[in-house]
Amino acid sequence: MTWTKACSTSDLEEGEGFQLKQERPIALFNVDDEYFAIDDTCTHDESSLADGYVEGDVVECGWHFAKFCIRTGAVLSLPATCPVSTYAVKVEGDDVFVNLPD
Ligand code: FES
Repeated sequence: MTWTKACSTSDLEEGEGFQLKQERPIALFNVDDEYFAIDDTCTHDESSLADGYVEGDVVECGWHFAKFCIRTGAVLSLPATCPVSTYAVKVEGDDVFVNLPD
């Protein structure tokens, strides 16, 4: 696992997702000034969860409205049936890092 700089805290507004573009994109979220990272790709049909609708610690996919828990990656509603992976996040100064598999 490697800590990778994802963005600045100013990039993470509450209620908005931020997509870390890479081979396996990651979605970052700010929930009450706690930061979370999950796989960006919806497990139903590959829409970006960073582009989804955020309410509290739940993100709703913009395509077919499956819901996922931002804290745990758990799938909360159909049509998705598989959870998304979660990644540890740390903040140093204004920089947000995600612990990603090598
Ligand atoms: S692509 Fe996300 S619910 Fe279908």
